[in-house]
Amino acid sequence: MPFTIAIDGPAASGKGTIARALAQHFGFAHLDTGLLYRAVGAKGGDPVAAARGLAPGDLARDDLRSAAAGQAASRVAAIPEVRAALVDFQRRFAGGEPGAVLDGRDIGTVICPEARLKLYVTASDQIRARRRALELGADEAEMLRELRERDARDAARDVAPMRPAEDALLLDTSEMTIDEAVARAIDAARRAG
Ligand code: C5P
Repeated sequence: MPFTIAIDGPAASGKGTIARALAQHFGFAHLDTGLLYRAVGAKGGDPVAAARGLAPGDLARDDLRSAAAGQAASRVAAIPEVRAALVDFQRRFAGGEPGAVLDGRDIGTVICPEARLKLYVTASDQIRARRRALELGADEAEMLRELRERDARDAARDVAPMRPAEDALLLDTSEMTIDEAVARAIDAARRAG
């Protein structure tokens, strides 16, 4: 059985950093599932056709990291047919040996409900906005508005809303350094193994 780790949480909570560190530590593959929705949103035209024709090789593009790409992703992510078109790819990825780490919004609830470890990573709105502003070289107040708008849409949508799985371990990184948060996650994975 592959060791699947599901990590969910709102934007800029630290889940991507933790996911990458876990994957590196255990020698697992990592999939940032937000990039799938970002690529679909950035494509323009019919989002359902874009999701069905998505070439995962195209995900490593810098333009997908922008706040505008995040907003476009969040809009197409509310379309059930878009989500459905991306399920198989994510589940195949999750089933890779010896293990895989996927981060997103619905990994523990929809994509990998049987994951060996589920983490739900959060941090206060202000701290997330500060982190994102530093990362993108953008204005903090503007980032705060952007994150809140996106989180509200992601949490309120009918299909696969952002929320912790019932058996997810909650990790609030507001007061933690990256090293502390990563150490907690590694510890949780060891105990789950
Ligand atoms: O994680 P990231 O900020 O890159 O995600 C961009 C957007 O993609 C999110 O705001 C959300 O709407 C959508 N998303 C999703 N389900 C996932 C990952 C991302 O709906 N598993």
